Amino acid sequence: MPRSTVARINLDALRTNYRAACERSGGAKVMAVVKADGYGHGIARVASALADMAPKFAVACIEEAWAIRAAGHAQPVVLLQGVHAAGDLADCVHSNFEPVVHGEQQLAWMEQSGDAPTFWLKVNTGMNRLGFRGDALPAVMTKLEKMGAAPKLQGFVGHFACADDASSTMTLAQTANFETATAPWPTLMKSVGNSAAHFIPGQPLFDWSRPGIMLYGGSPIVGKTGPQLGLEPVMSLEAPLITTRVVKAGESVGYGAGWVAERDTRMGMVAIGYGDGYPRHAGTDTPAAIAGRRIRLIGRVSMDMLAVDLSNVSEAREGDLVELWGRTVGIDEVASCAGTISYELLTGLTSRVPRVSQ
Ligand SMILES: Cc1ncc(COP(=O)(O)O)c(C=O)c1O
Repeated sequence: MPRSTVARINLDALRTNYRAACERSGGAKVMAVVKADGYGHGIARVASALADMAPKFAVACIEEAWAIRAAGHAQPVVLLQGVHAAGDLADCVHSNFEPVVHGEQQLAWMEQSGDAPTFWLKVNTGMNRLGFRGDALPAVMTKLEKMGAAPKLQGFVGHFACADDASSTMTLAQTANFETATAPWPTLMKSVGNSAAHFIPGQPLFDWSRPGIMLYGGSPIVGKTGPQLGLEPVMSLEAPLITTRVVKAGESVGYGAGWVAERDTRMGMVAIGYGDGYPRHAGTDTPAAIAGRRIRLIGRVSMDMLAVDLSNVSEAREGDLVELWGRTVGIDEVASCAGTISYELLTGLTSRVPRVSQ
């Protein structure tokens, strides 16, 4: 019998969140971002659940696009990082993958290949990770025309640096840069918005939006949880209590002996740890739940287990399931206790934890 540590994936919630993205997209079509193994939920499972709704998928790299094809889905797949080798361009042509071209190297590969796939150009509007600056676009467009690739250009993509921060003016400035840079080519499409941009009043999302984390129920906005934004948690992470005991006042629990009981305390050990991707930096008082009642972690998270305080769930017994995040305990809360974001928790869950569709 395998241990009952498991991530339950609620595909109805995923579909509900996709619909929420469509409702918030201001008429833009919505490509579902399913990179990093569908943000840890399983790319094939997620693509299959969204296949009849999402007209395009977006991934980071070609391997992830292959996984969508292997799951039997024929939609165009945008490669947000473009290709990593010249030879991949021919695969893009044959497989209906749409690479983003973000730099000179990729342009040179396109010129060599002679047969361009449908593609997008990345505009650097201030993020300064990838893309051509606005003032370089006319020269890039001339090159594309010369090599005969211009007719395959779908449009322009940008990416926001601070859309998660409602008080930042950077998103407005980046949008203005993007509009100025792309104005000479009004018939080409535009895509700028990740999940956070769906929650910024008045933010144009142009032709295509690109939500990721909101599809999975995680919050894209600093200081808000997914449920506060009307999103439904998709993953419920649970693990069994494998023992319970009373630690006496003055005794400690686990590595580092950092948590010491102030009074006799009934506690339990839960079969999940950082070897499963549960964050080691989640310290004492990080919430968890048993049967819908909130409990708290105590002491340091180990590789394969962690300790919880059972003081307020006196009926808890070995074998009971503990929710680490899900409907009772929001993943954004756990992330905040661990000094990180839900994206890292979801994508960091290891292969030791089976994902089970519901
Ligand atoms: C270019 C690009 N677009 C869209 C997304 C989706 O972002 P989010 O998960 O914040 O919605 C990402 C994710 O990192 C991205 O890199």
